[in-house]
Amino acid sequence: MTAHLQATGEAMFTGDLPELKRELRAAFVLSTIGVGEIVQVDTSEALKLPGVVGFIGAGDIPPGGENNFIPANYHLYEPDWKDELFVTKDIDYAGRPIGLILAESQALAEQGARAVTVTYKNVQRPVMDLREAIQKNMIFEKATEQKIVGNAEAALKEAAYVVEGECEMGNQYYFYIENQVALSVPSEDGIDVYSATQCSEMAQRSVAQLLGKPMNYCNMIVSRLGGGFGGKFLHSCAVAAASAVAAEVTGRPVRLRVDLSTDMQFNGKRFPIVAKYKAGCDSEGKLLGVIVDIFVDAGHVATTMTFDVISMLDQGYYCPNWKVTMKQFKTNKVCAGPTRGPGQVPACLMIETILEHLAMEARQCPVIFRELNLFVEGQKNLFGTPQRQCTLKKLWQRLKQMADVQSRLDDISKYNKDNLWRKRGLSMTASRYDMCYYPTGFPTHVSVFAADGTVVVITAGVEMGQGLYMKVAQAVAYSLGVPLEFVKVRPNQNNVTPNPLWTGGSISSERCVASAMIACEKIKAQLQPFREKQPDADWKTLLQAAWEGNAVLSAGGTHHYDNPQVDLYATYMAGVVETEVDVLTGQYQVNRVDLLGDFGDSMNPTIDIGQVEGAYVMGLGAYLTEDIFFSKETGKLLNGGTWDYKPPTTKDIPIDWRIHFLPDSPNSVGVLSSKAAGEPPIGLAMGALLSVKKAVESVREDLSGKKTFLPVAAPFTVEKAQLASGIQVNHLHV
Ligand code: MTE
Repeated sequence: MTAHLQATGEAMFTGDLPELKRELRAAFVLSTIGVGEIVQVDTSEALKLPGVVGFIGAGDIPPGGENNFIPANYHLYEPDWKDELFVTKDIDYAGRPIGLILAESQALAEQGARAVTVTYKNVQRPVMDLREAIQKNMIFEKATEQKIVGNAEAALKEAAYVVEGECEMGNQYYFYIENQVALSVPSEDGIDVYSATQCSEMAQRSVAQLLGKPMNYCNMIVSRLGGGFGGKFLHSCAVAAASAVAAEVTGRPVRLRVDLSTDMQFNGKRFPIVAKYKAGCDSEGKLLGVIVDIFVDAGHVATTMTFDVISMLDQGYYCPNWKVTMKQFKTNKVCAGPTRGPGQVPACLMIETILEHLAMEARQCPVIFRELNLFVEGQKNLFGTPQRQCTLKKLWQRLKQMADVQSRLDDISKYNKDNLWRKRGLSMTASRYDMCYYPTGFPTHVSVFAADGTVVVITAGVEMGQGLYMKVAQAVAYSLGVPLEFVKVRPNQNNVTPNPLWTGGSISSERCVASAMIACEKIKAQLQPFREKQPDADWKTLLQAAWEGNAVLSAGGTHHYDNPQVDLYATYMAGVVETEVDVLTGQYQVNRVDLLGDFGDSMNPTIDIGQVEGAYVMGLGAYLTEDIFFSKETGKLLNGGTWDYKPPTTKDIPIDWRIHFLPDSPNSVGVLSSKAAGEPPIGLAMGALLSVKKAVESVREDLSGKKTFLPVAAPFTVEKAQLASGIQVNHLHV
């Protein structure tokens, strides 16, 4: 509905709201050391700049307010976790907000923030590397998890082939097109906070807690986001709260628009992992047992964002025996944030590495090896949930044919024999994404205007590019029987749709659709007596009669699910990816990608195809290009900008890109028989890493005469690919 506005750059985001009278701009002052104590914050130089109005720090939190932006009693966070909005003394990561400089313009606020000098004492070298944290045993004891199914140790004793190894993965940042932003406007009723957040209610709690005010003092308004990807969670609450504190203290509107480098420093990121595995299969290649020890770099506090790493570990593959342990370690980085596919992305890294390794050990084609181990109907996953409507085998076999896998593997093998400096790889992987309707619902309010029959919807789900508003508008038009053009979805307001769950987990769109339809049913019930009197009346005539008859033409609905913790259904997918590597430079290109997914009856295939494309490309970033570097001395982020941080861009998109949806596969438990699409495709991009790795392994074989398994480290950047090829200068002599 708004594609034309977004494509032309005319779409309005929170930061684009017109300038208000007496508005102030704000910029964060961040800590520049990883570990130490603040001695003094000297703002004198900043305050000398004409147009710089003031500094707000920990001492300015209003009376009754608490300098803590983690909302109390919030289900996502440990009850004893408190985190200062503006740090008072102890620094545990570089990039921690110390305060805000307020000025008459954004440029001045940023200049002022740079002019603040902070002196520290007891400065220590931070721990930035997970392996160092493991070695120093900086473990969060309470955050250890373990899952045991069957007896993996005994199973491995029976195995015909056993492999052991390690794999690892780094941070990933969100790289949305709109950075964190909030505008707080004081009013006689309290404060209006326009915030780019995925969790409007959590942000409202943060603001109220910081100000020491009731929830009804804080009116949250969230219009469309320029992307969220999980990055506008907890730290969007800090941004909203910081602007609200400044507005409350100054009595003026305050807009806090965070620049990219600051955003990358203070916001959480995808958590890195190291995993040690041991796995075995029988002589045919059937998985018998898997043992994995997962080590998580949680950042400065233990994270709950690892909640689905273990449950997603088995992905599309069945194994009867598991022993999985996950431990979290403290490093001097900001705490990990939820990032698209938080569990699935590391899960695919681990399980696909294990399968690849075992297939090589068993001297089997990895495609056949995986096919042998795919889940079939009724088999229980690692958490004991039986697979229902399991279409994995069907997807796999169809895709293998559609993507012409066998003959392309033969072609690639010939290509690699004929070429020493350019190599190709192809891999095929399967994925499973369990969907769960978390507790609390998504209220939606629908209002019908009797005068002309148009409709306004306010839904608690946040539109961040995933097409939530579009699906809701379609559902309302469908339910009320009006043309789509009659329906407008307006930015959400907690005043109208209170107490919503955060938007994420890929199920918000369908749950908002469900709640909108509940609201429509209530309106239809109001219209029913008038419809009975005038069965053939058109929409407007019917509304006129209803209006004259005092019918209530607006209603709210909330989607609740009775058994929220249980995996409701899974989105299954399969993917084939072919890459080509210039082994002299390490540069690679994704030549072709074929994806086939079971999305039930897609509510909007164009949106869902966009979601598949977006998720897959974000996965390409996680597995191939997006490396983050920190200074070992200060803990400061070293590549906080577009020059040094490498999210995929136009040249990284697969040249030949074929996305298919499985037809005739309605989801019997889904909203309108659909399935979620926002996150499930991301893990399939692990196939691209495997395919680049295969190409690199091919040159290693040429050079050494031996087939060896190359350990997996994501992102497998151009640099890593080149270094792994083993090519030395002496290989280049004629
Ligand atoms: N698509 C776009 N364009 N922008 C985004 O920020 N976020 C992704 C995905 N698709 C995102 C996106 C993430 S992380 C999630 S969890 C889902 O959308 C959220 O979809 P839902 O609102 O249906 O739950």
